[in-house]
Amino acid sequence: MSEARAATAVAGTNIALVKYWGKRDAALNLPAAGSLSLTLEGLGTRTTVRFSDDLDADRLVLAGTPADPRATARVSAFLDRVRARASARARAEVVTANDMPTASGLASSASGFAALAVAATRAAGLALSPAELSELARLGSGSAARSIFGGLVEMARGERADGRDAVAAPVAGGDWPDLRLVVAVTSEGAKSVGSTEAMERTARTSPYYAAWLASVPGDLADARAAIAARDLPRLGAVAERSALRMHASALAADPGILYWNAATVAAMETVKALRARGCAAFFTIDAGPHVKVLCAYADAATVDQALLRTPGVLRTVVASPGRGAHVVQMDVA
Ligand code: DP6
Repeated sequence: MSEARAATAVAGTNIALVKYWGKRDAALNLPAAGSLSLTLEGLGTRTTVRFSDDLDADRLVLAGTPADPRATARVSAFLDRVRARASARARAEVVTANDMPTASGLASSASGFAALAVAATRAAGLALSPAELSELARLGSGSAARSIFGGLVEMARGERADGRDAVAAPVAGGDWPDLRLVVAVTSEGAKSVGSTEAMERTARTSPYYAAWLASVPGDLADARAAIAARDLPRLGAVAERSALRMHASALAADPGILYWNAATVAAMETVKALRARGCAAFFTIDAGPHVKVLCAYADAATVDQALLRTPGVLRTVVASPGRGAHVVQMDVA
């Protein structure tokens, strides 16, 4: 029996309130601007990594089924970085499952690569700092760098060419347990254009991309101030503005990228109507048609009911702020 070491980690997905959209370096996944997000509880990924000398290739099992070669190659390339760091050669079996079905459009690479970074490094016997884990997770997916941390998290653009300073960190005052994010699912299908390709096309062809990038530092400063002051309307206003500007830049790409469907727009109208009635609710939208609504715990049921009554909304999930990625089990053989 050869030596095998295994670790299981859990990571929550995160939803950006100030969006990441565009890279300054594609190979290292270095963002062209900073971003700020909320890590969620209960919507994430659980991943076990087991290194074994008995394997002649890395294996990836996704939701109980062997993954396709493309997904396996992406994970294998990530494991190569971990092996290089640990001076190890053993191949690994990676068993991973999302809380939401992958095809729902909510299962994310953010929680996936955060859980993989934590599980793979621990299984390889490494003890990385949170900042080092964030840097490693970023190499899998830019947004994954943020899911290493819980609550409200800011990702730094960084200045260095090697990306050592392009890491996430908790925001001061970012442990805000009263926040809720109500997710309105508006489609069962896979998204039309993946975020990696869409942000690259936006950067290359959208006349609005430069304006988008120029707007981010101000939104980050405003979001930080809103968080420090526990000012939900101010944070919500930043979130809506950032999402709309991100989508505006993508809409203006060539060919244009439209993620919204009729229910996306209807849900945005619902949020505006709620606000007109005095309910502090604010939407954000990622690279897909679902609408995520930021509000306080006391309003979450009202927001949830209003979204469920919105034509085209298929179902909702009410999510709370969650912990950062963490190990839940270790096995040493
Ligand atoms: C719209 O992190 O999925 O969700 O770095 O290419 O893997 P890659 O992109 P990804 O992009 C996330 C885009 C977004 C906004 C955000 O999460 O900040």
